[in-house]
Amino acid sequence: MIRSRLCELVGIKYPIIQAGMGPFSNNNLCVAAANAGVLGLLSTSGVFNKDDQPWIYNEFARTGEADPEDDIGTLMEKVLKRTYRLVKERGGIFGLNVMVSKEVLWASNILIDAAIRVREETPDVKNHLKVMYTSAGDPLGWEDKIKGAGFKWIHIVPSVRAALRAKKAGVDVIVASGHEGGFHTSWEPVHSMVLLPAVIEAVQDDDTLVVGAGGFSDGKTLAAALLMGADGVLMGTRFLATQESDFHPMWKQEVVDAGDRATLVARGYVGPARWLKTPRSIEHAANTLQKSPGVFLGIPEDYSTPDMLTAFENESMKATFAGNKEKAMMAAGEVAQRIKDMPKVNDMVQKIVRDAEDILRNVPQKLLG
Ligand SMILES: Cc1cc2nc3c(=O)[nH]c(=O)nc-3n(C[C@H](O)[C@H](O)[C@H](O)COP(=O)(O)O)c2cc1C
Repeated sequence: MIRSRLCELVGIKYPIIQAGMGPFSNNNLCVAAANAGVLGLLSTSGVFNKDDQPWIYNEFARTGEADPEDDIGTLMEKVLKRTYRLVKERGGIFGLNVMVSKEVLWASNILIDAAIRVREETPDVKNHLKVMYTSAGDPLGWEDKIKGAGFKWIHIVPSVRAALRAKKAGVDVIVASGHEGGFHTSWEPVHSMVLLPAVIEAVQDDDTLVVGAGGFSDGKTLAAALLMGADGVLMGTRFLATQESDFHPMWKQEVVDAGDRATLVARGYVGPARWLKTPRSIEHAANTLQKSPGVFLGIPEDYSTPDMLTAFENESMKATFAGNKEKAMMAAGEVAQRIKDMPKVNDMVQKIVRDAEDILRNVPQKLLG
């Protein structure tokens, strides 16, 4: 059976992480992934905008057995307790994906504090809610809070420079996120085939694990990452198109139906984002070129880039939620073009692991004679 240091560190069966994907809830996907023996991550990016996007907040509450009137901290506590209840029998391991960019720091603190409270209240929770996964911001400064509370800490980066900073902060697992990945992607493109080995060479050691993200979806790509020296892979788009995934059926089907060259990059809420190519996202890319050219030039802009683009994104997200295909914009990674089915999470994980094992077992006689 495939094992890696990631399995030992967090107590999962297989060296795979299910990406936290927002802005909608992936509360049920996380449960299915944790129960399938991989690390499940809860998305939280949609709970920041209770006032602007109440339909997203309400959905978090509904799928988390919370109340739409709950404040963010209470909502999060209820979601975490529900997840624990649904994974504990099967020994599932899960974590919380929290954005730590400076614009949302107030919420990051509330979310992490809620996780600490839930762990302290019921000690057995610590055997399941083991991971704090930070994204979209600077990891330095979070070490006392996250490691002090006893979490295994995972942070995602788009460059070697950011990986070195994560290592300085004391992160346990650094996820190298290639530009082919779904939704928010970095200002300057470096894809997995270059980024993953570069980050491994720069930071991996006895205390620092490295995981690949962006383009991983099956046994072949898992085996390739492990052969490059990675400690595991994180998959987003692949988990989006599964039976248990909370995403709208239309979105899941669009991933399955995506063909050759199926995505484009245009502005997202916090920078460049990868969307499925549709008439609506092509229009958004054209607007981005005019009003927010930094997205294509690799020049970071702040959140306040033209309101018109934000309004377009909000309207598209609302349309996606409602299943309105004409106005919807759906994020996904380049790997959508390789995804052709919508399996149950457990069956999918078993197949990925079996295929990777077959490949790795046959490598010596196939390639070395
Ligand atoms: C629909 C979608 C939503 C995502 N939302 C988030 C998010 O809210 N926070 C985050 O850190 N990453 C988010 N991501 C990025 C994933 O965590 C992950 O890095 C990416 O999906 C990996 O690439 P892949 O799609 O090729 O597997 C999202 C990805 C997708 C496809």
